[in-house]
Amino acid sequence: MSTIPANPEGIDAASEMLRQGGLVAFATETVYGLGADATNDRAVARIFEAKGRPSFNPLIVHAPSAEAHRNWAVFNDQAEALAEQYWPGALTLVLPRHPNAAVSLLVSAGLETIAVRVPDHPVAQALFRQAGCPVAAPSANRSGLLSPTAAAHVHASLGNAVDLILDGGDCHGGLESTVVSLTGPEPLLLRPGLITREALEAVVGPVFDPPKDSPVAAPGMLASHYAPHAPVRLNARSSKDPEEVLLTFGDAPAEGFATVRQLSARGDLVEAAANLFRLLHELDALSPGGIAVSPIPGTGLGAAINDRLARAAAPA
Ligand code: TXA
Ligand code: MG
Repeated sequence: MSTIPANPEGIDAASEMLRQGGLVAFATETVYGLGADATNDRAVARIFEAKGRPSFNPLIVHAPSAEAHRNWAVFNDQAEALAEQYWPGALTLVLPRHPNAAVSLLVSAGLETIAVRVPDHPVAQALFRQAGCPVAAPSANRSGLLSPTAAAHVHASLGNAVDLILDGGDCHGGLESTVVSLTGPEPLLLRPGLITREALEAVVGPVFDPPKDSPVAAPGMLASHYAPHAPVRLNARSSKDPEEVLLTFGDAPAEGFATVRQLSARGDLVEAAANLFRLLHELDALSPGGIAVSPIPGTGLGAAINDRLARAAAPA
């Protein structure tokens, strides 16, 4: 890991690192982001590994303009109006995901929505334009720690877990973006931030709080809400039902299953996380009697994978 200044050479190196699947921390007007190519499953999986979070929280996709975001998110009139008024800026819109979005399913953590933002920072803008890919980025801190507003904070929090820190100086905002969901009948304020509720309401009228205890407020915590249609059986060590398909890991036993999908033949948890949502979708699309899942170790990213699978297996 190294910290480099955000001059033209630094932006060159950082955009190349992103294109190659690396993790780059960069300044925005709110806080530093930990970025990866949003179209690269493995790079996105590495974000979760670096954050050390025991579950998959969906990530914000960053791009230099609203135009780019129309390739993976569906904008309604309210989204267009808010984007027109506050982008580039500290506003994140949660929108329906385009069915054919070229963005990793892991970015949405299995949801049918996608969070998009256009940062108002010259370094972030230059980096995205040069990289040419959408950039998935949570705040560049280890899970549970404060969001970083300087390159040194990122270094202290993530150390070698990040490939490159692009030092763009201190973030002026110091507080994360406002997150608004436009996926239901009315706008919901999922996270207060730099853009105030009043500022939003001036454009789209009343903005509501998510209902108390509502899962939309904590999307990483959703349980059976985004489970596959087929019942899921965890820690499967043998075939119990000929209609069942198998999601396996490493060299776990797969005898007796006609259909098997492999999360990672070499037992690599980053690779398994990168494949998880795509393979669950693939298996579920076969309308099987059930999806059996081989045991998966609980270490490292295995904690988040097992958390997701436990939610998938929870009764609806
Ligand atoms: O200012 C910011 O927003 C910074 C900079 C780097 O852009 N990013 C940031 O990301 O704060 P993060 O991951 O720390 O917070 C993103 C928030 C989380 O609360 C997450 O649950 C929510 O956005 N979120 C992301 N995708 C979502 C989705 N599809 N549905 C609902 N909430 C979503
Ligand atoms: Mg954060």
